Amino acid sequence: MTPAGTLSIDALRATEYPELDAVFLNSASYGLLARTTIEAINGLTARRNRPLGVPDPEPGAALRRARRAAATLLGAGVDEISLAPNTSYGINLGAALVRSGAPGRIVVSAGEFPANVLPWLPLRDEGWSVDVVPTVGGLPDEAAILEAAARSDVRAVSVSAVQFATGYRIDLEALGRVCRARDTLLIVDAIQALGVVPLSPADLGVDLLATGGQKWLSAPWGSGFAWMAPRHREKIRPPIVSWLAVEDGAAYSTDGGYHLDYLDDGRRFEPATLAVQDYLGLAVAMELLQEVGIEAIQRHVTGLHDPILEWARARPGVRVVTPLDPRRRAGILALELPDAERAYQALDEAGVRAAVREGLLRLAPHLYIDSGAMARVVEVLDGVVS
Ligand SMILES: Cc1ncc(COP(=O)(O)O)c(C=O)c1O
Repeated sequence: MTPAGTLSIDALRATEYPELDAVFLNSASYGLLARTTIEAINGLTARRNRPLGVPDPEPGAALRRARRAAATLLGAGVDEISLAPNTSYGINLGAALVRSGAPGRIVVSAGEFPANVLPWLPLRDEGWSVDVVPTVGGLPDEAAILEAAARSDVRAVSVSAVQFATGYRIDLEALGRVCRARDTLLIVDAIQALGVVPLSPADLGVDLLATGGQKWLSAPWGSGFAWMAPRHREKIRPPIVSWLAVEDGAAYSTDGGYHLDYLDDGRRFEPATLAVQDYLGLAVAMELLQEVGIEAIQRHVTGLHDPILEWARARPGVRVVTPLDPRRRAGILALELPDAERAYQALDEAGVRAAVREGLLRLAPHLYIDSGAMARVVEVLDGVVS
């Protein structure tokens, strides 16, 4: 992999996204695939049909490459990564970790994406309570979450690093500090953060991080990964038993019998055969992002927000719901407008794809958007609001 910062965003846009025929501001739903990523996926798929086209070691090497790129992205060890098809898989792994301890309370925030709340609800049948902390003005109540995290009967806090509708970026450093001091497990859904803001879970005191690759990582649907702090690895039985998760799993011989000798790394939590071509795509996508550098992407995206923020300041009927403080923002900018659906439609007709979530207009520009496109967005919004 080429070192971070060696590829400029303009150069990447020109070579990797040469044919964008509209303005895509919906990377919080799914990111656009770079040309190199598509070529890697299609190349492997095409070679698969040539009898000698895929050397035996290649699928395994593609998965190793994805684990390596994920580890680099998180500043983690490659042995700490478990490839997984989506965020939910990782959150469920977090639930297995939490239920390995004595029952208590689990804290989540209202306004969370369901993928980060529903996996906790079955624990209610096992003596656990799930506390949903109400939002304030539609945003997570960080003070209340911190207070809850410090309570002695709270065993786990599960949060999105960045909230799906409002784009609120929680202060993981502060939350991690409280959780660590109280031995409270911190589970983080990072899908709206990775690829657009730097995040190193071990430094932040996170216990488990889950993500899909389909959004800001600009990777295929159905690719993703989980990271678990190594100290927890032995505490839980893998919730899904995979023949590839054990020593000699791929020996293709039953002579030695059947043994559940789990691998001593994150592969023990992987769900057996994966969509190899898509994980190759995930690897290539993450390598590209890291060539540009996540800090550079963050600066670029924050800059793309600026014209919208400036416009919104001058419009009495418009409220910026996402915090203005860039430290509490990632890629999503959410606006409360007199009629968000109408704004969405007007943008769509003008060749701009946005989204409406929780009644808010959600703009999610990524590195393949330039400032000219945002000027066009302002023009359309101005036409709708005034
Ligand atoms: C915060 C958040 N978590 C999770 C998901 C998706 O979950 P999964 O990857 O399990 O489908 C989304 C969006 O689809 C999301 O915005």
